[in-house]
Amino acid sequence: MVKLLVAKDYEELSELCTKEFVRCLQTQATPKLGLATGSTPIGTYERLVELNRRGEIDFSSTTTVNLDEYMDLPPSNEQSYHYFMHHHLFDHINIPRENIHIPEVDRKTADEDIKAYDKILDKVGRRHIQLLGVGVNGHIAFNEPNRRQALRTNITELTEETIKSNSRFFDSIDEVPTKAISMGIGDIMNSDQIILIANGENKHWAIKTLLESDFVDFQYNPATILKLHPNLLIICDEACYNG
Ligand code: F6R
Repeated sequence: MVKLLVAKDYEELSELCTKEFVRCLQTQATPKLGLATGSTPIGTYERLVELNRRGEIDFSSTTTVNLDEYMDLPPSNEQSYHYFMHHHLFDHINIPRENIHIPEVDRKTADEDIKAYDKILDKVGRRHIQLLGVGVNGHIAFNEPNRRQALRTNITELTEETIKSNSRFFDSIDEVPTKAISMGIGDIMNSDQIILIANGENKHWAIKTLLESDFVDFQYNPATILKLHPNLLIICDEACYNG
């Protein structure tokens, strides 16, 4: 079942998303959260940090798994998703460091990196919430449009469109990594609830085609797979919804 909330703007979107996390954190004894990077969740993370600072939510028994990481960027690089998550969330909340999981890319081979993350995902198991952003082309995590979609952790080649879109975070487009390690579709779906957040006009196509499609087509829009999930909540703002 797809539930849709259309917020008036990014602030309201972030409020609505935060509420879902707060409910989970306040009702689950050991919350398990799937987290995303990118610009869309920043407003939610800011609010979670503030609520934790005020003592209204507690992360001491929370476990997190992240969706993805660029290949070839060390965690100290400011563009890495390790850096992003610590900077925007983990450094400011009371989560035990050992409960934080982000794909690592520092082993001898990519195959070892993949196996290590699959092992972590098996150990953490089903999440209570999986938060997702969406690419302008419908990618979820870094699972780009493709007829075949990996079920488990995989190395993906970023499309020109994604590289161009992500170049806004780098000094030049040449610095954007062309590959990433990403959670697969099967593990993304292994969650009690999926929350997909999207704001701005440039996400209109991805959300509109997801909402309107009565088919699943990974080549056209990989996010259409999410319609198979029994508890999908889409929160977008008016700019995204109306285009
Ligand atoms: C990030 C991720 C990506 C982003 C997507 C949207 O962990 O998996 O799929 O969610 O590229 O990014 P933003 O939010 O920057 O528009």
